[in-house]
Amino acid sequence: MSGPTPLERLDRLSSELGIDLWLKRDDLTGLGFGGNKTRQLEFYFGDALRQGADTILITGAVQSNFVRSAAAAAAKLGMQSALQLEERVPEMGEEYYSSGNVLLAKILGAEHMSYPEGEDEAGADAALHARATELKAEGRRPYVIHLGLNHPPLGALGYVVAGQELCQQMPDFDAVVVPSGSGATHGGVLTGLALAENSSSVFGVCVRRDCDKQKARMDTVLQKLADLLDIDAAPLQDRINVLDDALPPGYGKVSGMTRAALEKMARTEGIFLDPVYTAKTFAGLLHLLGTGGIQPGQKVVMLHTGGLPALFGYQSELVDNLSKNLQQPPQTSPTGKTQNMTITRIETGQRMSRIVKHNGVAYLCGQTSDAPTVAEQTRDILAKVEDLLAKAGSDKTRILKCEIWLADMADFAEVNAVWDAWVPEGHAPARACGESKLARSVLKVEMIVTAACD
Ligand SMILES: Cc1ncc(COP(=O)(O)O)c(C=O)c1O
Repeated sequence: MSGPTPLERLDRLSSELGIDLWLKRDDLTGLGFGGNKTRQLEFYFGDALRQGADTILITGAVQSNFVRSAAAAAAKLGMQSALQLEERVPEMGEEYYSSGNVLLAKILGAEHMSYPEGEDEAGADAALHARATELKAEGRRPYVIHLGLNHPPLGALGYVVAGQELCQQMPDFDAVVVPSGSGATHGGVLTGLALAENSSSVFGVCVRRDCDKQKARMDTVLQKLADLLDIDAAPLQDRINVLDDALPPGYGKVSGMTRAALEKMARTEGIFLDPVYTAKTFAGLLHLLGTGGIQPGQKVVMLHTGGLPALFGYQSELVDNLSKNLQQPPQTSPTGKTQNMTITRIETGQRMSRIVKHNGVAYLCGQTSDAPTVAEQTRDILAKVEDLLAKAGSDKTRILKCEIWLADMADFAEVNAVWDAWVPEGHAPARACGESKLARSVLKVEMIVTAACD
């Protein structure tokens, strides 16, 4: 790392989303396509050089950015690297195994090994040690970068520095949104902010495990990091805030929500996100905005952790899904007028579809919630609407019309308070509200949304 990474304001997204949105460009850390791993590896390689190592061993997913960055750092320092690629993402196409990071690591001349499991950190580390023993017998001096939590999280130190760097660049942000995978980035940023006496919110978007598992992991990462720094872990652990709404269907899998976030960033700001980490992070940020975790007008920083070579490993997943969203060529009707006759039904069953798309318009089915209060029901419903819009290739700035049914018109003001905070400034749709008996007695609100879509 040769200095602070840029902190860039996203003007068009800021005005579209009604917040003051900034991007911390850690995709530009340099070294073999950049990304967050450059900061983490600085500390591992420092330790490796101190120990006189000449070969680095590391494990990760097939499209791992960490192993690619480690191979690049090894090349720069005149060392060798042995990369172990794990089967973490099932049912992937041919490019996943040959393009993106896999290609780059081959260009870097790294040794490749494979590991049949994707969720066996101890086993993956043990396999690295077995190879390290062989290398030692050949006269090499290997250094293993561990995956498991039973080793000091040296890489997280890179993000302690990054958190402090961010506070120096901009001391007055309200929230920072980061991906939370191994937890080194999330844990480091949180600790960096604490050391800079900055109490802004740190949201960790789960990219690998659900909230319960990630929270438990973060507890351990922060404890180990605090031990390294000789500080108290408890105040850091109290600040853990994780969300897993953008995780489904799982690690390394692209959902409609992920794809919509990736497309939105590219099509509004000309900035690429990767499908595994940063698009999910942005999807998480959009979800926070829809559910009140981030409030209109707040100053928000998203950490762009890079990972862009993986885009090419996901070519078929992305291209196939993008092409489904492209407008069909216009057809000519018997009356001579051009029209697009294609009707797409998403999440469809015998009785109903949750989304029906036709001619650039998405019709969503009615949304309700069982939450105890009217305000909570409204918030839930709007979050569900956002998810459906993402699946439809749309978002809340493109809603044309919303019909609202209330079981009791006396709840009008409570619904409006949530609605007004949610609807992006300058994008108010046509709206109608009526009183009606709803399908079950617990339901107090139902919303029926129609939106423009891709
Ligand atoms: C591009 C990118 N972003 C985010 C992450 C997650 O960071 P961490 O493992 O530090 O939680 C990774 C991890 O591989 C990554 O490659």
